[in-house]
Amino acid sequence: MSNQKAPQDTCVLVTGGAGFIGSHTVVKLLEGGYQVVIVDDLSNASERVLDRIDRIVGEDASSRLSFYRADVNDREALDVIFDENPIDRVIHFAGFKAVGESVSKPIEYYSNNIGSTLTLVDVMRDHGCKSIVFSSSATVYGDPDALPLTEQSPKKPATNPYGWTKWMIEEILGSLHTADPAWNVVLLRYFNPIGAHPSGLMGEDPKGIPNNLLPYVAQVAVGRRDRVHVFGDDYDTPDGTGVRDYIHVMDLAAGHVAALAWMDGRTGVEVFNLGTGNGTSVLEIIEAFSAACGRELPYVIEPRRPGDVTANYADCAKARREMGWEAQFGIADMCRDSWTWQSHNPNGYEG
Ligand code: UFG
Repeated sequence: MSNQKAPQDTCVLVTGGAGFIGSHTVVKLLEGGYQVVIVDDLSNASERVLDRIDRIVGEDASSRLSFYRADVNDREALDVIFDENPIDRVIHFAGFKAVGESVSKPIEYYSNNIGSTLTLVDVMRDHGCKSIVFSSSATVYGDPDALPLTEQSPKKPATNPYGWTKWMIEEILGSLHTADPAWNVVLLRYFNPIGAHPSGLMGEDPKGIPNNLLPYVAQVAVGRRDRVHVFGDDYDTPDGTGVRDYIHVMDLAAGHVAALAWMDGRTGVEVFNLGTGNGTSVLEIIEAFSAACGRELPYVIEPRRPGDVTANYADCAKARREMGWEAQFGIADMCRDSWTWQSHNPNGYEG
């Protein structure tokens, strides 16, 4: 354990740090004492999030944050960032993430998500930084044979290019370690991140019509959309609607900080599920959000959405055992915080 470092002596590069999960993780890192460098091209994020981070963490902590507006595909920009900062570890969030869009734009998705990761790890290697946490997804489990999903559950073929990029980047990072055992790789497989910072200052701000359930429900609650479209009520689940393991974004952010502490001084490739272990149906979400915002949210049942699985939820025992991390928040907390964010910022960061 020769290279163990205290957080205040550890500089973490966060790619995609202005995005939904990235920004909440940056707050947790700054609160944990880390030095943080964000690289984000703001293609799917707002620069205003930087102000919000400053307001949440205060002047002292925000003095440990720097921001570079750059694309992770831009090797020269990455070189400058590594030259100017003593980066010890990287948390890699940056990437395109819309499942449906990935089906119609496979070249863009493969080239951006995989290309930028290859550029990033190549620049890391050049600068002697071989420690990376990757933002993976439960999507790599495909349509599960058995629940809950453990890290031993098999990876299954992805159903869309977005899913394949997560799948392949996991393999690519594994190959790095095979070639050079000095690499230290943690793959975090997220279940369904929702919620927002409890202050209402930061949250999810999708561009256009939201693809995911929670931002859609939140926009119905605030009057931007008429009703929730429930994709299928004939699944083999208690109420017929799809079941997912929703996790509060603050818990997910804390999971990254736990992973950084856990990986300190190690090498290898390790996978952790980050979820709560509980499955919640679409109708249960609508009910919980209705309770949070104080009115019954209208919904309509639609046909199933192609590519959706019936149910998935995580076994999170490994993260608890190894990293001492466990989700703290329940569905009511997630809906409350999401509502606080949405009601204070009806049009997101631009509002
Ligand atoms: N749903 C609706 N109406 C909507 C949107 C979603 O009924 O308007 C339903 C879906 O059918 C599903 C559930 O709500 O049953 C959750 O759907 P999301 O789109 O919110 O989330 P997914 O589980 O489909 O996708 C998430 C991540 C992806 C990841 C995937 C698999 O957003 O990045 O999990 O792990 F790939």
